[in-house]
Amino acid sequence: MEELAPAGDGLVVLSNRGPLSWSRDADGRLSARRGGGGLVSGLAPLVSDSGALWIAAAMSEADRQASREGLTEAEGIRTHLVDLDPATYRMAYDVVANAVLWFLYHGLFDLTRRPRFEQGWRKAWDAYRDYNAAFAEAAVKAAPHGATVLVQDYHLALVPKRLSELRPDLRAVHFSHTPFAEPGSFAVLPDRMAVDVLEGMSAAVACGFHDRRWADRFDACCEAVLGRPARTFVSSLGPDVEDLRKVAASEQAVQAGRALEEQLAGRRLVVRVDRIEPSKNILRGLLAFDRLLETHAELVGRVVMLALAYPSREGLAEYLAYRAELETLASDVNLRWATDSWRPVELELGDDFPRSVAALERYDVLLVNPIRDGLNLVAKEGPALNRTDGVVVLSREAGVWPELRDAVLTINPFDVEATSEQLARALAMGDEERARLAEQGRRLATARSPAHWLADQMAAAAEEAQSS
Ligand code: F6P
Repeated sequence: MEELAPAGDGLVVLSNRGPLSWSRDADGRLSARRGGGGLVSGLAPLVSDSGALWIAAAMSEADRQASREGLTEAEGIRTHLVDLDPATYRMAYDVVANAVLWFLYHGLFDLTRRPRFEQGWRKAWDAYRDYNAAFAEAAVKAAPHGATVLVQDYHLALVPKRLSELRPDLRAVHFSHTPFAEPGSFAVLPDRMAVDVLEGMSAAVACGFHDRRWADRFDACCEAVLGRPARTFVSSLGPDVEDLRKVAASEQAVQAGRALEEQLAGRRLVVRVDRIEPSKNILRGLLAFDRLLETHAELVGRVVMLALAYPSREGLAEYLAYRAELETLASDVNLRWATDSWRPVELELGDDFPRSVAALERYDVLLVNPIRDGLNLVAKEGPALNRTDGVVVLSREAGVWPELRDAVLTINPFDVEATSEQLARALAMGDEERARLAEQGRRLATARSPAHWLADQMAAAAEEAQSS
C-alpha cells in the first residue's frame, strides 16, 4: 500500500461512500465533486481544511484511477480511497452490506425466501472481512498516536475490533446511520457472522445511533449473543441549515421553484424526496394517495403528489425491481385519475438537489413514511426550509420521529388507510393549526446541527461512554 500522510489534527473518518466522487470530464481529465448523502453533506464542511483524513472506498473506475494517480484532495478535504478489486468490493458492498445487513436492520426480509446463506456465502463474507481489514489497515497507517477514528455505518462493522488489536492507542467510535435489528431478527445471521459483527462494533469505545430505539436493540443483541451489554450513545444528525439556505437561494432552486408553481397552477402539493429504496415505502405512499383521491372527491383535480426519487444501488436486483414497480404504480394511479389538464402523480427519477430544495420550500404536505429508517434527515430538512406552513406526515418507524412527534401527524407505515386519512387531515387543516405545527417543527428540526453530531462523537471517543 502507498505511503499515507498522517491525519493532521488527529481525526480520521471512515465511511464507504466518501466526500468526493471522481469522474472523467469531456477532455478526459479527472475531476471531483462532492459525494452524495446526508453523512457527506453534514460532515464534509466540518472536516474540510481541518487536516482530518477521510478514508472511503473507491466506488467507481474513475475513483480507482484518481486513487492510483495520487489525487487525494479537493474542496479542502483530504481523502484516501481504499482500492479493492471490483469483485471483492461488489461482494462486500452489494451482497453482505446492502443485501444482508441493510435488509436485516430495516426489517425488509421476506423470510419465506430470504436470506439464504448458501455455499457462495462464505466467499462473500470473506470479501466483507477483507474490505474491513483494508479500511482498518489504512487507518492504522494514517492515524497519529492517540487519534480519534470515527467509523461510519454497517459496511464497516468489523473495523473497531481490528483497530483495537493493531493500534490500542486509537480511540474508535462506531456510528450507525441505520436502525438495528431486535435479537429475534438478528438470529437469522449465521452464528460466526453474528458474533463477528457484534464483537467488531462493540470493540469501539462506544457505538452511536440516531435514535434510542436502535441503540437499545444493539445492546439487546450484544446481551443475547455475546452475553454482555454494549456501550452506546444516541446523537441525531441535524440539517446544515446554512447550506440548505444557500442552495435555496441559488439560481437553479429559484428556477425550479418557478417551474413548480407553473406546474401546480394553484393546486395543493404533497411532496416526498427519497432514494429509490425499499425501506422508504414509496409504494404504500402512492397507494395511500390513490385512496385519498378515492375517498375525497373534493381533492380530485386539486392536488398533486410530487415524488422525487433518485436511483440507488442499481447493482441489486431488489432495487431494480422496486424501481420498476414504482414506475408502474405511479402510471397506474395516473391512468386512473388523470385528466387533460391534471396529472395527480409527478414521479421524477433523478438526483436534482436544488429541485428537491425548491419542493421542500413549497409543500403543503411532506410525506415521510419509511418502513424503518435510521434517521430520515429529509423530515428535518423539510420543516427547516418550508415557507408555506406545510404539514409533515411522518412514520413512527423513522429514527427522527421521537424528536419531531409533537410537530407532525404520525402514521404506522404499513397502514395505507390510516396514511391516506392523515394526508386528508393535513390537507384540510386550518391555517392557525398549520402555522403552529410548522413553527414547532422548525424549532425541533433545527435544534441540532451536524456540528452537534460531530461533537457528540468526539465526546464519546474522549470519555468512556456509559453502558446503556
Ligand atoms: O444512511 C445510510 C447510508 O447507507 C449511508 O451510509 C449512505 O451514504 C446512504 O445510506 C446511501 O447509500 P449508498 O451509499 O449505498 O448509496
